[in-house]
Amino acid sequence: MTFFGWFPQRWKSSVDVCLFPEPVPLAQQMASGLWSDLKGQVPKMKSTHLRSLMQDQARNDSMFVQSGQMVLDYCRQKVDSETMSKLFDLAEKAGVEQRKAKMFAGERINQTEGRAVLHPALRAPRSASIALDGQNVVPEVWKVLDAMKGFSDKVRSGEWKGFTGKALTDVVCIGIGGSYLGVEFVYEALKTDPEAAAAAQGRKLRFLANVDPIDVQRALEGLNAETTLVVIISKTFTTAETMLNAKTVKAWLVKELGSADCVAKHVVACSTALDKTQAFGIDSNNVFGFWDWVGGRFSVWSAVGVLALSLQYGFGIVNQFLEGGHAMDQHFQKAPAKENLPLIIGLLDVWNCSMMGHEGVAILPYCQALVRFVPHIQQLDMESNGKRVQMDGSEVPVGTGAINFGEPGTNGQHSFYQLMHQGRVIPSHFIGFAASQNPVELPGEAVSNHDELMSNFFAQPDALALGKTAEELKADGIPEKLIAHKTFPGDRPSLSLLLPVCNAHWLGQLLALYEHRTAVQGWLWDINSFDQWGVELGKVLAKEVRGYLSQARKGSADDSKFLTPTKKLLAKYLE
Ligand code: F6P
Repeated sequence: MTFFGWFPQRWKSSVDVCLFPEPVPLAQQMASGLWSDLKGQVPKMKSTHLRSLMQDQARNDSMFVQSGQMVLDYCRQKVDSETMSKLFDLAEKAGVEQRKAKMFAGERINQTEGRAVLHPALRAPRSASIALDGQNVVPEVWKVLDAMKGFSDKVRSGEWKGFTGKALTDVVCIGIGGSYLGVEFVYEALKTDPEAAAAAQGRKLRFLANVDPIDVQRALEGLNAETTLVVIISKTFTTAETMLNAKTVKAWLVKELGSADCVAKHVVACSTALDKTQAFGIDSNNVFGFWDWVGGRFSVWSAVGVLALSLQYGFGIVNQFLEGGHAMDQHFQKAPAKENLPLIIGLLDVWNCSMMGHEGVAILPYCQALVRFVPHIQQLDMESNGKRVQMDGSEVPVGTGAINFGEPGTNGQHSFYQLMHQGRVIPSHFIGFAASQNPVELPGEAVSNHDELMSNFFAQPDALALGKTAEELKADGIPEKLIAHKTFPGDRPSLSLLLPVCNAHWLGQLLALYEHRTAVQGWLWDINSFDQWGVELGKVLAKEVRGYLSQARKGSADDSKFLTPTKKLLAKYLE
């Protein structure tokens, strides 16, 4: 089911890339006055309340974008038609079209690692052709997808048996960061989808991410090794947390099942490092590969997510998720700027962060099934765009990388929304669905439970935008001494995304939309959204501490390389 099905199943070639104008370097954009021109819009927008902006119905209508069955309403943003036209102009000058075309054409746009960024190829139909160095990668992708379908079908049907001859009904996924968050998000989101829930009858899926031994306890709680399959997910197969957790769970399996031979039947891996999975003792037939052009935070569409999710829900449902992602790729590639959802959201987020000076963005799904969506988006966006230098190494002259946070509504309303209404200005994304996964209608209630939820989805953006004035409070008879406390300044920007229902297809569309939103922001800032050097320093220092603790536990160790406060704390810990 794709709602962008009228687009041809064709991918941009490098010839198409040449059709788009070259990106103008950020410094040149700045010098040409493009950014200062946009910044010039800020005083006007700061001094015009959303109450006034929203009186212009033609403006509001132009900001109501419908694409298939997905709706984006951004009239509650602090922009007018002039601002938007300057933002679209910025996208053009920053070369978003050309950069996008390069990504889809398999060019090595992750320049600091010399890699292509081809995660859209993971969700391309079998018939598509996407070349990397002249080789079509789609057949390779489908070879692994077919292998995962075959393996998960065997496990689900009970044809694949464990070491003691029992069917494997439970799965523990060991992985962290991009090798965990996306999988858990989709698993949680489908848990209550009726079709997926029926397909998962009698099966369990658990996750082990944190190196904290408490997480081992939680992941294995109540599981029987005889019926448990362990999926080790690690692109590099070197990540410290994953490796220690993998060894811990392997030791548990061997202890419970009484022989090291159980590994062949109970442990499989998803990785690009086949030499390392072999050294760990995993049969190479049980390793599902992917490629260096799949970034960790974009990897749920690869073996990283597809294997575990197929074991739980069956490959057919996971394929609907892939098709949803592909439909969004088609939209992103083909829709004109003014109807292009990822482009518009990326532009608005840059406007709010770099021009209006709002450092955070709240992502607020009105759907409990999206309980792990925001943690995944946090990694996707903050690991991608938490950067300080441009592609050429010079500092980005504007604020980059917003703090993404959030919780499903209505829970968040009883928590941090207070700050959003009367404290700081935090631009927000409201995400809702027209139909519930699990509708409930109680006799005697005015509305269904889903309508009750969605009443809040519709009300909150207006409350944030319009606020409540002292005059209105006085007219309501509020006592004078409470007027200041009860006043809502309003003028808080948000956008609303409305989708049909939270199922595998729409989850695919939603996630691909957020992936492309992240890429658009990175292209506008001219940063490399596809590396993550910022996670390295902490890892190196942890290695030094690990070496010290290992020595200290054996007797004595030299702590001279640590800062005095760190020495003091380490001594207290070891006491
Ligand atoms: O530390 C960050 C990170 O490198 C992520 O980008 C990645 O998704 C995660 O660690 C896990 O890496 P791997 O899949 O290699 O274990």
